[in-house]
Amino acid sequence: MTNPQRKPYIAANWKMNLDRTRVLDLVKILKARLGDGEDREVAVFPPALFLADVAAVSQGSPIGLGAQNMHWEEEGAYTGEISAPMLRGIGVERVLIGHSERRHLFFEKDEWMGRKLRAALSHSILPILCVGETLEERKSGQMEAVLTRQLSTGLEWTKAEELSRVTVAYEPVWAIGTGEVATPEQAGEAHAMIRAWLRGQFGEVPAENCRILYGGSVKPSNVASLMSVPQVDGVLVGGASLKAETFLPIVEFDG
Ligand code: PGA
Repeated sequence: MTNPQRKPYIAANWKMNLDRTRVLDLVKILKARLGDGEDREVAVFPPALFLADVAAVSQGSPIGLGAQNMHWEEEGAYTGEISAPMLRGIGVERVLIGHSERRHLFFEKDEWMGRKLRAALSHSILPILCVGETLEERKSGQMEAVLTRQLSTGLEWTKAEELSRVTVAYEPVWAIGTGEVATPEQAGEAHAMIRAWLRGQFGEVPAENCRILYGGSVKPSNVASLMSVPQVDGVLVGGASLKAETFLPIVEFDG
Protein backbone atom coordinates (compact mmCIF):
# COMPACT_ATOMS: atom_id res chain seq x y z
CA MET A 1 0.00 0.00 0.00
CA THR A 2 1.56 3.26 -1.04
CA ASN A 3 -1.08 5.67 -2.24
CA PRO A 4 -3.18 7.14 0.62
CA GLN A 5 -6.03 7.68 -1.89
CA ARG A 6 -6.41 3.93 -2.07
CA LYS A 7 -7.90 2.87 1.26
CA PRO A 8 -7.07 -0.79 2.08
CA TYR A 9 -9.97 -2.94 0.90
CA ILE A 10 -10.68 -6.34 2.48
CA ALA A 11 -13.34 -8.32 0.65
CA ALA A 12 -14.86 -11.64 1.74
CA ASN A 13 -16.06 -13.93 -1.04
CA TRP A 14 -18.24 -16.53 0.65
CA LYS A 15 -18.96 -18.38 -2.62
CA MET A 16 -21.58 -21.16 -2.20
CA ASN A 17 -20.83 -21.62 1.50
CA LEU A 18 -22.53 -21.11 4.87
CA ASP A 19 -26.23 -21.23 5.67
CA ARG A 20 -28.45 -18.28 6.56
CA THR A 21 -27.80 -18.51 10.31
CA ARG A 22 -24.04 -18.72 9.91
CA VAL A 23 -23.99 -15.85 7.40
CA LEU A 24 -25.93 -13.59 9.73
CA ASP A 25 -23.89 -14.63 12.80
CA LEU A 26 -20.68 -13.77 10.95
CA VAL A 27 -22.05 -10.41 9.87
CA LYS A 28 -23.10 -9.61 13.45
CA ILE A 29 -19.61 -10.44 14.74
CA LEU A 30 -18.02 -8.27 12.05
CA LYS A 31 -20.40 -5.43 12.78
CA ALA A 32 -19.53 -5.54 16.48
CA ARG A 33 -15.77 -5.64 15.82
CA LEU A 34 -15.43 -3.21 12.95
CA GLY A 35 -14.69 0.35 13.94
CA ASP A 36 -15.94 3.29 11.94
CA GLY A 37 -14.35 2.01 8.73
CA GLU A 38 -12.12 5.08 8.57
CA ASP A 39 -8.83 3.34 7.89
CA ARG A 40 -9.95 0.25 5.95
CA GLU A 41 -12.91 -0.82 3.86
CA VAL A 42 -14.49 -4.21 4.52
CA ALA A 43 -17.11 -5.83 2.31
CA VAL A 44 -18.82 -9.22 2.26
CA PHE A 45 -20.09 -11.09 -0.79
CA PRO A 46 -22.57 -13.71 0.50
CA PRO A 47 -24.67 -16.07 -1.61
CA ALA A 48 -27.33 -14.02 -3.42
CA LEU A 49 -30.13 -15.66 -1.46
CA PHE A 50 -28.95 -13.99 1.76
CA LEU A 51 -28.19 -10.50 0.43
CA ALA A 52 -31.40 -8.88 1.64
CA ASP A 53 -30.99 -10.35 5.15
CA VAL A 54 -27.38 -9.21 5.31
CA ALA A 55 -28.42 -5.73 4.15
CA ALA A 56 -30.85 -5.55 7.08
CA VAL A 57 -28.42 -6.91 9.68
CA SER A 58 -25.44 -4.81 8.54
CA GLN A 59 -27.41 -1.57 8.51
CA GLY A 60 -25.73 1.19 10.50
CA SER A 61 -22.26 -0.34 10.07
CA PRO A 62 -19.59 0.43 7.47
CA ILE A 63 -19.69 -3.17 6.14
CA GLY A 64 -20.00 -3.11 2.36
CA LEU A 65 -22.32 -5.59 0.68
CA GLY A 66 -21.83 -7.20 -2.68
CA ALA A 67 -23.16 -9.92 -4.98
CA GLN A 68 -20.89 -12.60 -6.45
CA ASN A 69 -22.18 -12.12 -9.99
CA MET A 70 -24.91 -10.39 -11.98
CA HIS A 71 -26.31 -10.10 -15.50
CA TRP A 72 -25.77 -7.00 -17.65
CA GLU A 73 -29.38 -6.64 -18.77
CA GLU A 74 -31.87 -4.91 -16.51
CA GLU A 75 -34.57 -7.54 -16.95
CA GLY A 76 -35.71 -10.25 -19.33
CA ALA A 77 -35.80 -13.95 -20.06
CA TYR A 78 -32.52 -14.92 -18.35
CA THR A 79 -33.46 -17.82 -16.08
CA GLY A 80 -31.35 -17.99 -12.95
CA GLU A 81 -29.85 -14.52 -13.33
CA ILE A 82 -30.13 -11.32 -11.28
CA SER A 83 -29.79 -7.75 -12.51
CA ALA A 84 -28.16 -4.55 -11.29
CA PRO A 85 -31.48 -2.78 -10.52
CA MET A 86 -32.61 -5.84 -8.52
CA LEU A 87 -29.42 -5.68 -6.48
CA ARG A 88 -29.67 -1.93 -5.94
CA GLY A 89 -33.29 -2.36 -4.92
CA ILE A 90 -32.32 -4.39 -1.86
CA GLY A 91 -29.36 -2.25 -0.85
CA VAL A 92 -26.48 -4.06 -2.58
CA GLU A 93 -23.78 -1.67 -3.75
CA ARG A 94 -20.94 -3.93 -4.93
CA VAL A 95 -20.44 -6.89 -7.24
CA LEU A 96 -17.72 -9.37 -8.21
CA ILE A 97 -17.26 -9.64 -11.95
CA GLY A 98 -15.38 -12.37 -13.77
CA HIS A 99 -14.34 -14.48 -10.80
CA SER A 100 -12.21 -17.34 -12.13
CA GLU A 101 -14.85 -19.86 -11.00
CA ARG A 102 -17.38 -18.06 -13.22
CA ARG A 103 -14.90 -18.01 -16.10
CA HIS A 104 -13.61 -21.59 -15.77
CA LEU A 105 -16.46 -23.62 -14.26
CA PHE A 106 -19.35 -21.78 -15.91
CA PHE A 107 -17.60 -20.75 -19.11
CA GLU A 108 -18.45 -17.07 -18.87
CA LYS A 109 -16.94 -15.22 -21.79
CA ASP A 110 -14.41 -12.41 -21.59
CA GLU A 111 -16.66 -9.98 -23.44
CA TRP A 112 -19.52 -10.50 -20.99
CA MET A 113 -17.38 -8.96 -18.25
CA GLY A 114 -17.20 -5.62 -20.04
CA ARG A 115 -20.98 -5.51 -20.32
CA LYS A 116 -21.42 -6.48 -16.67
CA LEU A 117 -18.96 -3.80 -15.57
CA ARG A 118 -20.78 -1.22 -17.66
CA ALA A 119 -24.14 -2.22 -16.15
CA ALA A 120 -22.74 -2.12 -12.62
CA LEU A 121 -21.27 1.37 -13.04
CA SER A 122 -24.44 2.66 -14.70
CA HIS A 123 -26.44 1.53 -11.67
CA SER A 124 -24.02 2.88 -9.05
CA ILE A 125 -22.72 -0.54 -8.11
CA LEU A 126 -18.98 -0.76 -7.36
CA PRO A 127 -17.47 -3.63 -9.36
CA ILE A 128 -14.46 -5.78 -8.55
CA LEU A 129 -13.11 -7.14 -11.83
CA CYS A 130 -11.26 -10.40 -11.19
CA VAL A 131 -8.38 -11.36 -13.45
CA GLY A 132 -5.72 -14.05 -13.22
CA GLU A 133 -3.78 -16.69 -15.09
CA THR A 134 -3.84 -20.48 -14.72
CA LEU A 135 -0.70 -22.41 -13.86
CA GLU A 136 -0.30 -23.58 -17.47
CA GLU A 137 -0.62 -20.02 -18.73
CA ARG A 138 2.00 -18.82 -16.23
CA LYS A 139 4.38 -21.68 -17.05
CA SER A 140 4.08 -21.08 -20.78
CA GLY A 141 4.86 -17.38 -20.43
CA GLN A 142 1.35 -16.17 -21.23
CA MET A 143 0.59 -14.38 -17.98
CA GLU A 144 0.85 -10.85 -19.36
CA ALA A 145 -1.19 -11.73 -22.45
CA VAL A 146 -3.95 -13.28 -20.32
CA LEU A 147 -4.10 -10.36 -17.90
CA THR A 148 -4.11 -7.89 -20.78
CA ARG A 149 -6.95 -9.74 -22.52
CA GLN A 150 -9.04 -9.93 -19.35
CA LEU A 151 -8.42 -6.26 -18.54
CA SER A 152 -9.12 -4.96 -22.02
CA THR A 153 -12.35 -6.92 -22.41
CA GLY A 154 -13.45 -6.29 -18.82
CA LEU A 155 -12.84 -2.54 -19.02
CA GLU A 156 -13.93 -2.14 -22.64
CA TRP A 157 -16.90 0.10 -21.79
CA THR A 158 -15.43 1.85 -18.76
CA LYS A 159 -14.42 5.52 -18.95
CA ALA A 160 -11.26 6.95 -17.37
CA GLU A 161 -13.30 9.09 -14.97
CA GLU A 162 -15.07 5.95 -13.70
CA LEU A 163 -11.91 4.07 -12.83
CA SER A 164 -11.82 5.28 -9.21
CA ARG A 165 -15.06 3.32 -8.70
CA VAL A 166 -13.56 0.16 -10.16
CA THR A 167 -11.42 -2.32 -8.24
CA VAL A 168 -9.32 -4.95 -9.99
CA ALA A 169 -8.55 -8.21 -8.16
CA TYR A 170 -5.50 -10.14 -9.27
CA GLU A 171 -6.30 -13.75 -8.46
CA PRO A 172 -3.87 -16.29 -9.91
CA VAL A 173 -6.07 -19.33 -10.55
CA TRP A 174 -3.38 -21.68 -9.19
CA ALA A 175 -3.56 -19.94 -5.80
CA ILE A 176 -7.35 -19.98 -5.36
CA GLY A 177 -8.48 -22.47 -2.74
CA THR A 178 -5.22 -24.40 -3.05
CA GLY A 179 -3.35 -23.13 -0.01
CA GLU A 180 -0.63 -22.04 -2.39
CA VAL A 181 -0.15 -18.30 -2.19
CA ALA A 182 1.69 -16.04 -4.61
CA THR A 183 4.92 -14.75 -3.13
CA PRO A 184 5.04 -11.01 -2.44
CA GLU A 185 7.37 -10.78 -5.47
CA GLN A 186 4.91 -12.58 -7.76
CA ALA A 187 2.01 -10.47 -6.52
CA GLY A 188 4.08 -7.31 -6.87
CA GLU A 189 5.06 -8.17 -10.44
CA ALA A 190 1.47 -8.87 -11.52
CA HIS A 191 0.07 -5.79 -9.78
CA ALA A 192 2.71 -3.58 -11.35
CA MET A 193 1.84 -5.09 -14.75
CA ILE A 194 -1.87 -4.36 -14.19
CA ARG A 195 -1.19 -0.79 -13.01
CA ALA A 196 1.04 -0.17 -16.05
CA TRP A 197 -1.70 -1.41 -18.37
CA LEU A 198 -4.25 0.85 -16.64
CA ARG A 199 -1.87 3.80 -17.00
CA GLY A 200 -1.40 3.14 -20.70
CA GLN A 201 -5.12 2.80 -21.28
CA PHE A 202 -6.63 5.45 -19.00
CA GLY A 203 -3.79 7.78 -18.01
CA GLU A 204 -1.69 8.35 -14.91
CA VAL A 205 -4.24 9.79 -12.48
CA PRO A 206 -7.13 7.35 -13.11
CA ALA A 207 -4.69 4.42 -12.92
CA GLU A 208 -3.32 5.67 -9.60
CA ASN A 209 -6.83 5.88 -8.14
CA CYS A 210 -7.84 2.33 -9.05
CA ARG A 211 -7.37 -0.21 -6.28
CA ILE A 212 -5.81 -3.56 -7.10
CA LEU A 213 -6.48 -6.41 -4.65
CA TYR A 214 -4.66 -9.71 -4.34
CA GLY A 215 -6.69 -12.91 -3.98
CA GLY A 216 -5.70 -16.55 -3.61
CA SER A 217 -5.20 -18.37 -0.29
CA VAL A 218 -4.96 -15.20 1.78
CA LYS A 219 -4.65 -16.17 5.47
CA PRO A 220 -3.95 -14.43 8.79
CA SER A 221 -0.31 -15.57 8.46
CA ASN A 222 0.32 -14.00 5.03
CA VAL A 223 -1.92 -10.93 4.91
CA ALA A 224 0.61 -8.47 6.37
CA SER A 225 3.40 -9.47 3.97
CA LEU A 226 1.04 -9.25 0.98
CA MET A 227 -0.28 -5.88 2.12
CA SER A 228 3.26 -4.58 2.50
CA VAL A 229 3.81 -4.96 -1.25
CA PRO A 230 3.59 -1.61 -3.01
CA GLN A 231 0.65 -1.79 -5.44
CA VAL A 232 -1.31 -4.29 -3.29
CA ASP A 233 -4.27 -2.24 -2.07
CA GLY A 234 -6.26 -4.97 -0.39
CA VAL A 235 -7.21 -8.62 -0.43
CA LEU A 236 -10.06 -10.76 -1.72
CA VAL A 237 -10.46 -13.67 0.68
CA GLY A 238 -12.32 -16.94 0.12
CA GLY A 239 -11.79 -19.85 2.52
CA ALA A 240 -10.30 -17.84 5.38
CA SER A 241 -13.25 -15.44 5.36
CA LEU A 242 -15.76 -18.13 6.33
CA LYS A 243 -14.91 -18.10 10.03
CA ALA A 244 -14.53 -15.18 12.43
CA GLU A 245 -11.35 -16.77 13.89
CA THR A 246 -9.57 -16.50 10.58
CA PHE A 247 -11.30 -13.51 8.99
CA LEU A 248 -11.00 -11.05 11.90
CA PRO A 249 -7.18 -11.27 12.05
CA ILE A 250 -7.14 -10.53 8.30
CA VAL A 251 -9.47 -7.55 8.70
CA GLU A 252 -7.39 -6.31 11.63
CA PHE A 253 -3.98 -6.92 10.01
CA ASP A 254 -1.23 -4.65 11.27
CA GLY A 255 -0.21 -2.32 8.53
P1 PGA B 1 -9.35 -18.49 -1.46
O1 PGA B 1 -10.35 -17.85 -2.55
O2 PGA B 1 -9.01 -17.38 -0.49
O3 PGA B 1 -10.14 -19.60 -0.82
O4 PGA B 1 -8.15 -18.97 -2.20
C1 PGA B 1 -10.13 -16.57 -3.06
C2 PGA B 1 -11.17 -16.23 -4.11
O5 PGA B 1 -11.57 -17.11 -4.87
O6 PGA B 1 -11.62 -15.08 -4.19
